[in-house]
Amino acid sequence: MGLGIGCAIAWYQINSETSIVLKQSAKQSASGAIANMGIGGGFSLVDHTGKAVSDADYADKYKLIYFGFTYCPAICPTELQKMAQVEQKLDEARNSKIQQIFITVDPERDTVDVMKDYVSLFDSNLIGLTGTPQQVEDIKKKYRVFSSKVQTPEMHDYTVDHSSYIYLVSPDSKVVSMYRIADDANYIAADIAKVIALEG
Ligand code: NI
Repeated sequence: MGLGIGCAIAWYQINSETSIVLKQSAKQSASGAIANMGIGGGFSLVDHTGKAVSDADYADKYKLIYFGFTYCPAICPTELQKMAQVEQKLDEARNSKIQQIFITVDPERDTVDVMKDYVSLFDSNLIGLTGTPQQVEDIKKKYRVFSSKVQTPEMHDYTVDHSSYIYLVSPDSKVVSMYRIADDANYIAADIAKVIALEG
């Protein structure tokens, strides 16, 4: 089996409440419903250039955030590529209001240098954020991100199971939409276009 297992089974329902909203979201844009669930919030982390940052540094932008880890063999790179495709599908006016962010759930291995190399593989608008284990735990809790180290005897290093959603976060750090692995770049770009037009 090897390193692939962790990410192959990485998709979890965060909890039943979120699951219900996501089901509604498939039928009708439920951005408003998610915005009212109180997911999201501020953070203190370190960016891929080694600079300490907080939500205040991105207060004038929407954030498209994905949580994962750089050693993830499949799901994380696919979702980050999808975020780059979303940017290609959106107009310049909306893109100028969006900061793309990748936040590691594996800060022990994903140091500043590792994050710097990793984000350079993706879109130029992508920022990588890491931090102390406590800083990462804090933002995971606020965004209801699940992750758990997995190591079996035949594995020489651990992998990480983790929930996989792309979050659209408002300038004041509230989650307004959550996109699943099944939501493609066209769907996500269309939803973002609606949200940003609605809120100006
Ligand atoms: Ni992953």
